[in-house]
Amino acid sequence: PVPDRLAIRGDLLDLVAAPALTDATPDGGAAVRFTPDHWLLVERGRIVGRQAHDPGDAWQREDHRGRLVLPGFIDTHVHMPQLDVIASHGADLLDWLDTYTFPAERRYADAEVSRVGAEAFADALLAHGTTAAAVFPTVHAVSADAMAAATHARGMRCITGKVLMDRNAPDGLRDADAASADRELRAGIARWHGTGRQAQAVTVRFAPCSTPQQLALAGRLMAEVPDLYMQTHVAENRDEVRWVAELFPDARSYLDVYHRAGLLGPRAVLAHAIWLDDADRALLAETGSQIAHCPTSNLFLGSGLMDWQALQGAGAAVSLASDVGGGTSLSMVRTMAAAYQVQALQGVKLGAWALLHAATLGAARALRLDHEIGSLEPGCLADVCVWDWATGPVGRRRDALAQTLHERIFAWITLSDERHLVQTWVAGRERHRRDATMPPREE
Ligand code: GUN
Ligand code: ZN
Repeated sequence: PVPDRLAIRGDLLDLVAAPALTDATPDGGAAVRFTPDHWLLVERGRIVGRQAHDPGDAWQREDHRGRLVLPGFIDTHVHMPQLDVIASHGADLLDWLDTYTFPAERRYADAEVSRVGAEAFADALLAHGTTAAAVFPTVHAVSADAMAAATHARGMRCITGKVLMDRNAPDGLRDADAASADRELRAGIARWHGTGRQAQAVTVRFAPCSTPQQLALAGRLMAEVPDLYMQTHVAENRDEVRWVAELFPDARSYLDVYHRAGLLGPRAVLAHAIWLDDADRALLAETGSQIAHCPTSNLFLGSGLMDWQALQGAGAAVSLASDVGGGTSLSMVRTMAAAYQVQALQGVKLGAWALLHAATLGAARALRLDHEIGSLEPGCLADVCVWDWATGPVGRRRDALAQTLHERIFAWITLSDERHLVQTWVAGRERHRRDATMPPREE
């Protein structure tokens, strides 16, 4: 059960504003809130404050002194069924889809495969310090239902919805017809949109897999249902971009295909956004659409280098995402480290603060959920993770030699992974602990 009063002791760190991309202020500066050796206070699953002194035995106390306490990470783009094909060798996007991904996703037509896969996936997120995610299941309604059910049972914030695809995909992986897709989307919305911490997204796989008629159906639903999200892929790979130009000769650009269908807006989250031009970037800003940057995926599939500064300069917002199984790790720490490297290849040295922001508060803002997740601000739900500052001889030595908070956090980002995670809390309830079997999860 959720303890009435919970206090977690450690070095509390969160973001309170968006730092500049290259901000490396040694002590964090105004965007960063760091209170070493404090107690984070949680009542009935919600953060109520923090203090330096022990709150006493009216509180369930979790003493993690000497450890780092962060808001749970938010993954703004990840594929549940693709845990099965993570780390598949030797392909670019389009042949990777054909060779590995589509065959794997076909299995999720089966409700039991979907249930087992979704539960394993939700547990894996928690074991990587990710407490909220925008998730692609498969085209099968049972897979979307299983994803919502698995995260709902764990109290997690999840945005998902059955994937739309009605062409350029193998048998067993296409919507039967427009009516069935519409019916299944509406059933998912009726069952899950606004249920607990669930929200539904119109999930357009990508323009090549949907006919213009299906994109129009998606746009109609976006106009009709309040607070519905839209998630898709855009401009990831050059062959893909060429293909979209052939399939949609009237569109000005790949992004414009979605714009014409009424799919851009403040609740639209588009993954990758590598091969864009200035007009595309301006359109993203103008519509308030959100970019999910997936650096481990972009490196692994050889897709290209997303230009974060150009997007930010145009006024478009960027958050971080794993994009597993194109991405190589569910860890948002590994994702931050890869994001640093992708920008370094373009001569930009991201600060640790912008990296942390893009996986916490910035991602919460991208999903319009910063009143609920992304920080340790009173009023937010207690989605909180406890991390070791360092494990092993290399990390320990580097951590001990760090002179400033930025140096310490940057080394932590660069050297850490899920093995540094000690405990994961979701809405004030323990959902993962290192080296422990978890208690049963039902109420
Ligand atoms: N574009 C269309 N589908 C996918 C997918 O599953 N993964 C990635 N990385 N890109 C896509
Ligand atoms: Zn993806």
